[in-house]
Amino acid sequence: MPTNTRLETPRLILRRYELSEAQRMCDLLADGTVAALVPGWPENMTPEQMQAMIKEDHEQDEKGVASHLGIELKKTGELIGVAKLVHVVPEHKHGGFGYWIGTEYRSKGYMTEAVKAAVKHWFETFDFVRMIAHHMQGNDASGKVLLNAGFKEEGTFRKHVAHRGKYVDAIFYGILREELKY
Ligand SMILES: CC(C)(COP(=O)(O)OP(=O)(O)OC[C@H]1O[C@@H](n2cnc3c(N)ncnc32)[C@H](O)[C@@H]1OP(=O)(O)O)[C@@H](O)C(=O)NCCC(=O)NCCS
Repeated sequence: MPTNTRLETPRLILRRYELSEAQRMCDLLADGTVAALVPGWPENMTPEQMQAMIKEDHEQDEKGVASHLGIELKKTGELIGVAKLVHVVPEHKHGGFGYWIGTEYRSKGYMTEAVKAAVKHWFETFDFVRMIAHHMQGNDASGKVLLNAGFKEEGTFRKHVAHRGKYVDAIFYGILREELKY
């Protein structure tokens, strides 16, 4: 699977993130707000651990079982977040994805812009019939991103994710290929 994807939106470029960006990713994640909202996300990663994770992400992308896209802000050339397709089910032609962005870049519409471009690309590349995403109960900003990108809320999976010693409800969203309006 080609890993030289480069998608352009008015304000962003979506492209592979590199090992050399491990420190930047650590800096973006340092305040712990992503780990607080994404179940299973490791806290306080060292640059070495981040490099190992990036290497794994590249390997999965090369095998065609995932697609990890760094989100670069055009005006500065800096990485500001990630959108990642991590659950590809070829036999049912559907895929699930996640995303995060550094705190100082939030509520500017960047993730909505990135998700629209990424979802369109993934539908085309993987020939999906449907795509899904979910967030923990209470992560309303994440839900807004999905609704803004044309997803429909499809239901609540009760106590679906283990997070910090509790089982938390997850809200699921989906979009069908024919519903994609962008
Ligand atoms: C969720 C996240 C990716 C959103 O990124 P973003 O770039 O801020 O998203 P956008 O600016 O495109 O859209 C955010 C929307 O949520 C709204 N919003 C922001 N904070 C909110 C809150 N606390 N409650 C409700 N809505 C909120 C914004 O107003 C905006 O909606 P609008 O465009 O209709 O006004 C970002 O907050 C993040 O990285 N959070 C931590 C990691 C995470 O939660 N990842 C998703 C896991 S499922």
